[in-house]
Amino acid sequence: MRVMIRAPRAEDTAGYAEAVRRSAEHIGRWNPVEPDGLPDLLKRQGSGLRTFLIVDRETGGLVGKVNVANIVMGRFCNASLGYDSYVPFNGTGRMTEGMRLVVDRCFAPQTADGLGLHRLEINVQPENERSIAMAKRLGFRHEGFTPRMLFLQGDWRDHERFALTAEEWPGAAA
Ligand SMILES: CC(C)(COP(=O)(O)OP(=O)(O)OC[C@H]1O[C@@H](n2cnc3c(N)ncnc32)[C@H](O)[C@@H]1OP(=O)(O)O)[C@@H](O)C(=O)NCCC(=O)NCCS
Repeated sequence: MRVMIRAPRAEDTAGYAEAVRRSAEHIGRWNPVEPDGLPDLLKRQGSGLRTFLIVDRETGGLVGKVNVANIVMGRFCNASLGYDSYVPFNGTGRMTEGMRLVVDRCFAPQTADGLGLHRLEINVQPENERSIAMAKRLGFRHEGFTPRMLFLQGDWRDHERFALTAEEWPGAAA
């Protein structure tokens, strides 16, 4: 394993801003670019949102960020994954390694420091080939097409919907 995952903290603010600024070009095509967004993200952490940073073990550099968002428990136990990878680690496979750790954590029971989720969604704009490749690499199933799903880059954008349930995750104790 070249990476580890952990919760973000206030001390990450400067490193996070630098990583997002370095990566603005590839993030900005698909997601908002918010280098100064960490303090607000920290405030919003709670039962509906958990953020994980993916960290390169060798250098301590930030590989990426994953938001486990729209968490709904009860009979649904469902959340959506949103993610960005950062220069210079993008395209090195580290983001995929980190995403696997995040999915592990999402499906692990709450008694074992997991989120106790049963189903995860990844919603991707149809032209976002790298993110679709990521969803497929992780084993997410294509479930369908959702028109005008999210407001991004000034308009309501269509999304392809991918999902995975705990029973489908290798090694899961579903
Ligand atoms: C989507 C996104 C997160 C993918 O991240 P990434 O940095 O490409 O992820 P990885 O490096 O883990 O992807 C694996 C790639 O690394 C390559 N790779 C290089 N060395 C590797 C190694 N040792 N092991 C595995 N893969 C390796 C793979 O070949 C693969 O490249 P390919 O897709 O061209 O075949 C990134 O492109 C991104 O931040 N995009 C902008 C924001 C965005 O679209 N977010 C998602 C919205 S739904």
